[in-house]
Amino acid sequence: MLRSHTCGQLRASNQDETVTLCGWVDSYRDHGGTIFVDLRDRYGKSQVVFGPETKEILEQAKSLRNEDVIKVEGLVAPRPEGTVNPKLDTGEIEVRAASLELLNKCKQPPFVPSQQELPGEDLRLRHRYLDLRRPAMQETLMLRSRIIKAMRDYFEEHNFIDVETPVLGRSTPEGARDYLVPSRVHPGSFFALPQSPQLYKQILMIAGYDRYVQVARCFRDEDLRADRQPEFTQLDVEMSFIDIDDIIGMIDGLVARLAKDLLNIDVALPLPRMTYDEAMERYGHDAPDLRYGMELIDCTDLAAEAEFRVFKAVAESGGRVRGINAKGAAPNYSRKDIDGLTDYVIQDFGAKGMAWFKVDDEGKLASPIAKNFSDDLLAKIKVRMGGEPGDFLLFSADDYEVTCRTLNGLRRRLAKELKLYEPGQMHFSWVTEFPMFEFDDEEQRWVAMHHPFTAPRPQDVGLLDTEPRNARAIAYDLVINGSEAGGGTIRIHDSATQQKVFGLLGMDEESARERFGFLLDALQYGAPPHGGIALGIDRFVMLFGGLDNIRDCIAFPKTQKAADMMTGAPGAVDNKQLQELYIKSIKPQDG
Ligand code: AMO
Ligand code: AMP
Repeated sequence: MLRSHTCGQLRASNQDETVTLCGWVDSYRDHGGTIFVDLRDRYGKSQVVFGPETKEILEQAKSLRNEDVIKVEGLVAPRPEGTVNPKLDTGEIEVRAASLELLNKCKQPPFVPSQQELPGEDLRLRHRYLDLRRPAMQETLMLRSRIIKAMRDYFEEHNFIDVETPVLGRSTPEGARDYLVPSRVHPGSFFALPQSPQLYKQILMIAGYDRYVQVARCFRDEDLRADRQPEFTQLDVEMSFIDIDDIIGMIDGLVARLAKDLLNIDVALPLPRMTYDEAMERYGHDAPDLRYGMELIDCTDLAAEAEFRVFKAVAESGGRVRGINAKGAAPNYSRKDIDGLTDYVIQDFGAKGMAWFKVDDEGKLASPIAKNFSDDLLAKIKVRMGGEPGDFLLFSADDYEVTCRTLNGLRRRLAKELKLYEPGQMHFSWVTEFPMFEFDDEEQRWVAMHHPFTAPRPQDVGLLDTEPRNARAIAYDLVINGSEAGGGTIRIHDSATQQKVFGLLGMDEESARERFGFLLDALQYGAPPHGGIALGIDRFVMLFGGLDNIRDCIAFPKTQKAADMMTGAPGAVDNKQLQELYIKSIKPQDG
């Protein structure tokens, strides 16, 4: 071992010990004849002093620069009065250097981990080794490690078996494009990297491994956002001989345990549940942020009475007029701010506008559009919206989906601007009974809302033949602070129903057989009732760490353009490699 202690370890009780520390030069200060170096490793920082009494070493220390890797031997001494640093765990002591060894010189770095201002993300990703030295990144990766450990422990205690499933496999549809891997041995054939281990875990249930868990890497070629990566990690779970309450109960227990162990938060169980329809009606979103209220309130019936053209037209044509009440927020929003909100909903959610009122000191609704409403109607709107002096009421009039998107967007934005939740506040809940299918405008066909292996509610089985759009699934999403942190379903466990669902998704018998014949077969060889869930580990880290960018939760993430800035992946390959794979690459034409 090159070192006797880490840089975060020494305390006043170590006084007079001779120690050896190794680490990176976090900062150096030359105080005329004495050099102070803060030495850093992942455990913390220690102050090392090179004084005039060791002239040779002092000279050597003068050439030290940020991020040099050094080894220092010295005596632990209390810091002189007035120089104790209470912010540092090691702030009571310093190490008086008796020897210095330069283990490796660092070339002038493009940024230093200790700098206050965060460097641009491109630079951070390109020099990830420097970025990962930042204490904030190290804390996040340690949190990630603790989360995964706690998850594994929990499932181990509950008798789950960890089984690894292939990365080179067949396409498992989760709604994204596949990453494909060409086969050299089977010219023209491809593996698909798993979008999830979905089918393998179901096969494991059929094979009798009734409690399965895996920390599984998943790959999805889809449009990236702040909470999505093309390569991410799931805590994947499947159970047999269970119903929805069993699986939700199992995850409830995990959530409470993680919240207690990692954040010291007591979570009351069972976690609250809400159906999809209720979530859309009350919050306009299937993963509502329940840290605050500001629910959507329907005013369509009142809007129908208005002379205001926009409201009346929408109400009479089957649309909806809904609003939210930002309590006491009227003074926070100037006309200019409101124009900003209006542009936001038009640009981001395809809204046609945003109607609003402020409740004035006398309790009257004030707005440029108020003249288009009778006093009586304004009074009714105020009562419906629970308006009190100082409140800010915002409305969307449109079809149901647009009002959902718009008001969800406004609700989230206003909550953030008005600080309606505390940093560190956590809210966990479930959303259940999702529709089985949703219409994909791009592909002009029905697609599975979760995945095609999801069971309908027993009472909705008949709807598969008559009104599939109204069929609800035995599906459940875990929602943390308005983000989908996990999702699962009870599965179809008979071949006939599975075949029927494939059919509804536009797959004829032949193509279903060709793609999923192995599943349809397996379902006929003694498939137990089963179901499961997958939790997004990257999202757990993000939410538990209070971060708003998933890239900060992953050691080596991809950019928004699905590339690795450090290694340059994806990159070109030799023609020879392509030839071996029988592949020819066609460059896209410009424009
Ligand atoms: P689903 O597709 O809902 O379900 O994924 C489960 C959870 O994985 C996380 N997640 C992601 N995290 C980061 N980047 C992504 N691109 C990404 N996509 C998904 C989310 C999500 O809730 N096989 C089913 C699970 C099941 O039915 O058991 C599945 O994969 O947190
Ligand atoms: P206009 O008559 O189009 O000038 O709109 C008058 C006010 O109604 C403006 O404040 C618009 O932002 C708002 N508005 C227009 N369309 C809608 C809509 N679909 N929903 C809510 N408000 C709207």
